[in-house]
Amino acid sequence: MTNINQSKIKKATKVFNSVFNKYDMMNDLMSLGIHRLWKQRLIEWMNPKKDDHLIDMATGTGDIASAFLKRLKNQGSVTCVDPNKLMIDQGKKKLKYLDKIHWNVSNAEKLPFSDNTFDIYSVSFGVRNFSNIKMALKEAHRVLKGGGRFICLEFSKVENEYMNKVYRAYSKTIPLLGKYIVGDAEPYNYLIKTIDEFYDQETFKKVIEESGFGNVEYRNLSVGVVAIHSAWKV
Ligand SMILES: C[S@@+](CC[C@H](N)C(=O)[O-])C[C@H]1O[C@@H](n2cnc3c(N)ncnc32)[C@H](O)[C@@H]1O
Repeated sequence: MTNINQSKIKKATKVFNSVFNKYDMMNDLMSLGIHRLWKQRLIEWMNPKKDDHLIDMATGTGDIASAFLKRLKNQGSVTCVDPNKLMIDQGKKKLKYLDKIHWNVSNAEKLPFSDNTFDIYSVSFGVRNFSNIKMALKEAHRVLKGGGRFICLEFSKVENEYMNKVYRAYSKTIPLLGKYIVGDAEPYNYLIKTIDEFYDQETFKKVIEESGFGNVEYRNLSVGVVAIHSAWKV
C-alpha cells in the first residue's frame, strides 16, 4: 500500500505552479505583511547556534533560510527542500547572494538524506500541503540528529469565538484578491480549504508526539491564526 495521496500531490503542484511568480507579493497582501513577523517569531524561538545545519522543508522561496542565515550572520548552513522546482527557482533568484544554501527538489515524505544529518528541521506553511503528514514527520525524525529540533509554523485555530468570526469573514475575501492579483481564485480557495481541514493546536501536538518526538510544545500567534509547534528528537 502506498501512503502517498497522489491527488493531493497533483493539487499542490497545480496550485503552486500557478502562483509561484506572485507568491511573495500575495503573502504580503493577504497577511498585510504579518507573515514576516510570524516567520521572525519562528526564528526567535528556534534560537539557532553557530554552525547549525538547518533543513527547511517546503521552503518555497526560502524565507526561513534567509532569516536563519541573517540571524547567524551567515555562520550556519541550510538545505532548502521543496518538490516544486518553480518555487525553488524563485527562491534561488531571490537569495542568489547567499552561498550557504543548498537547494533540493524532493517531497517531505521521502527525503534523499541519511539518518541523523540535520540539527534543526523547520517547516513554515508547508505541513498542510503534505500528502501524508505522518509519513513526513517520521522522515523529519529520521533525518534529524539525536537532540535535534523540529519547529513548525502553520495556520491553526482561532480560539476566541468573536475573533474567529472576524477571521472567517476576512478569509472569504482572499480568493477575490487572488483572482484580482494572480488572475485565478482557485489556488486561494485551496488555501482556505487546507486551513479549515488542518488540525487544531492540541491535535497536531499529539500527531507530532506519535511520530516519535518529545517535549512537544506550541505557541499561538495572532490569537491562534497561526501556531508554532516545537519538538525534539530525544
Ligand atoms: C505555502 S508554501 C510555503 C513556502 C514557505 N515555506 C513560506 O513559508 O513562505 C507551501 C510549499 O509547500 C510545498 N509542498 C507541497 N507539497 C509538499 C510536499 N509533499 N513536501 C514538501 N513540500 C511540499 C509547495 O511546493 C510550496 O512551495
